[in-house]
Amino acid sequence: MVKKEDLRQSVKDLMKSNEMEWDGNRYTRPAPTTYEQQWLWDSCFHAIINIHLDADMAKDELRSLLYHKGTELGGMVPHMVYWNGGGEELWGQNYGSTITQPPLIARATLLVYEATQDKSFICQIYDPLRRHYDWLLKNRDGDGDYLISIVHPWESGWDASPRWDAALSFTNPTAGELLGGRLGLARKLKEHFSKNPFSVWKDFMVEPVDFNALFSDSLFALAEIAKRIGHNEDSLRYRDLASKVNQAISTKMWDENTGYYWDLLGDNEAQIKIPSSASFITLFAGIPSMKQAQRLVNQMLSHYWTDYPIPTVPIDHPAFSPNEYWRGNTWLNLNWLIIKGLERYGFQDLAKILIEKSVLLTRKAGFREYYNPITGEGLGSDSHSWSGIILDLINSSSNAGFVTN
Ligand code: GLC
Repeated sequence: MVKKEDLRQSVKDLMKSNEMEWDGNRYTRPAPTTYEQQWLWDSCFHAIINIHLDADMAKDELRSLLYHKGTELGGMVPHMVYWNGGGEELWGQNYGSTITQPPLIARATLLVYEATQDKSFICQIYDPLRRHYDWLLKNRDGDGDYLISIVHPWESGWDASPRWDAALSFTNPTAGELLGGRLGLARKLKEHFSKNPFSVWKDFMVEPVDFNALFSDSLFALAEIAKRIGHNEDSLRYRDLASKVNQAISTKMWDENTGYYWDLLGDNEAQIKIPSSASFITLFAGIPSMKQAQRLVNQMLSHYWTDYPIPTVPIDHPAFSPNEYWRGNTWLNLNWLIIKGLERYGFQDLAKILIEKSVLLTRKAGFREYYNPITGEGLGSDSHSWSGIILDLINSSSNAGFVTN
């Protein structure tokens, strides 16, 4: 049995110890030393955690993400904000990267709004929020099919995943080669950006399934936010766009033969048939039919169900490597997305087991960046903020029976 109050206290300590402030802007660093900057999708998870601890901090986290310091990026929210500078060498600009990350800010904003009912908060951030989604549509949907392309593996949030090996021309790469590939691509991107900011870039061009699922889900959330503050036309427009993204995911990414949604590569949108848990994130966005959802759950139970699930790569796949960064570890932010998806489709029992296993993982190994799905060993950075997302899971699950008050 785990005591809810103990768990809450340990997450509170974690979040407080990672709280940062620059010129009155507050955010939570992902982890001490390793990740001192503000990171886009991390901050979304941090805001969701802080709904349960410190609602003002949850709002500040999203505000600072959207009013990022530095160059005007045409509405784009950078994947890293360097509040104290330091981005020049990698990006050619000091205060923020020139790439983005999974766009779940609108969903995080709506969750914070629903918990606080603070209309002034959503009024205040609505404009930069909608500009980010408009920026993605304008700059990252070159073929006009409503699917967003990413230009670097870092944008996916899944830096070293085997999903990107082919796009980077790798076969069985070592960790060193993978890192070299990412850094090399970033150097080229810097050069390209200095001449043609945001122009089409083909060195790495992938339409990822999870990024797009989160995009569609956030467009629905944005439509809801617009409605709550009386922007009815915007609301209709974003709802319509969200449906179109869903439709495109279903038509172009779903593969009836294998029961997976695949990422698409390059101009000709070849399906990248590398299985991963990214497919399960479509459940979060309500994209699969019930029959497709059942097939995804079957995949999950047959190929991903370790003692400490969900690994990002199926355990029987040649690329599965449980200790290697993004090549088969368990990440609790992804578990959160998957659990919410399971709940949405009525797989409550499975969701509860996964919540229990996620909580036990933090009991066993602490708040780590990611974990070995077989042994439960903690990996990557220590005191990693987004693993505090278990607090949201135990608070919102109807009766996680193993937690007592
Ligand atoms: C790593 C992860 C990325 C995350 C960042 C900060 O780079 O791959 O997804 O946003 O760490 O936690």
